[in-house]
Amino acid sequence: MPARIIDGAAVGDAMRTELQRDIRALGARGVTPGLAAVLVGDDPASATYVRMKGKACDEAGLYHETIRLAKETTEAELLALVERLNADHKIHGILVQLPLPKQINTQRVLHRVSPEKDVDGFHPENVGKVSIGDPTGFRPATPYGVQQLLVRSGVETTGTHVVIVGRSTIVGRPMAALLLQDGPGGNATVTVCHSRTRDIKSVTRQADILIVAIGKAEFVTGEMIKPGAVVVDVGVNRMDDPSLKKGYRLVGDVQFEEAKKVAGAITPVPGGVGPMTITMLLYNTVQAARQWAPA
Ligand code: GUN
Repeated sequence: MPARIIDGAAVGDAMRTELQRDIRALGARGVTPGLAAVLVGDDPASATYVRMKGKACDEAGLYHETIRLAKETTEAELLALVERLNADHKIHGILVQLPLPKQINTQRVLHRVSPEKDVDGFHPENVGKVSIGDPTGFRPATPYGVQQLLVRSGVETTGTHVVIVGRSTIVGRPMAALLLQDGPGGNATVTVCHSRTRDIKSVTRQADILIVAIGKAEFVTGEMIKPGAVVVDVGVNRMDDPSLKKGYRLVGDVQFEEAKKVAGAITPVPGGVGPMTITMLLYNTVQAARQWAPA
């Protein structure tokens, strides 16, 4: 039987509808949650993500600003902008789109974002809070979205063996921290694989839930999946396709056609994790605004 398709767009929509109640409650207290997105340079994928985030804010009734800077921007200029946004009362959440150009030290910039406005969850204070299970820490949007998608799709994580492929600070590492927590969408036994893992197939085939975030198009093939496993594909890769007007199509980190014959359930690309990431960014921005609007 082919795998059940886990519909991230539908779950994301339902969560955004729920969020409307919180946004209205904040509005009644005179607060409109505000998000600033900073885009440095002209990477087309980053520009698309930032545009989608702005559109989602508009649709949800959040205030947003997108600040676009030239690719030659210096680190000092970017740090000065972050300081200005830290002090701006209209802005509750700040997002510096990654990757940044080479002349800029990414860590220095991420560390300068006020932890109270760090809706990406990349500041060490929030990384620490997430790793110890402190709910006041901002959870990075992508792994937070994967966790919500599993919970709301009825996938039990307690007691399961979850294998994560990829150890990035944006997805793999915080994903492991969230799955280890004691609570819904947690209590899993977690293994993290990466480029140096020996015989990776023997590890991925042990997974009850396989989460793939390695950034390599169609890296996971059907034979790497245990029959019946739940497969979550975090990857978004552009693959050349001259038959399409735009010249490319989006594929995940999983060979979807093979995987859906083996897996019990699977997220598609697009329409799986992507819409959840944007939804959770909105959640984090509302959480950030709530700090400034005591009940
Ligand atoms: N680039 C890829 N993913 C992300 C993300 O979640 N946040 C930011 N700021 N940049 C990214």
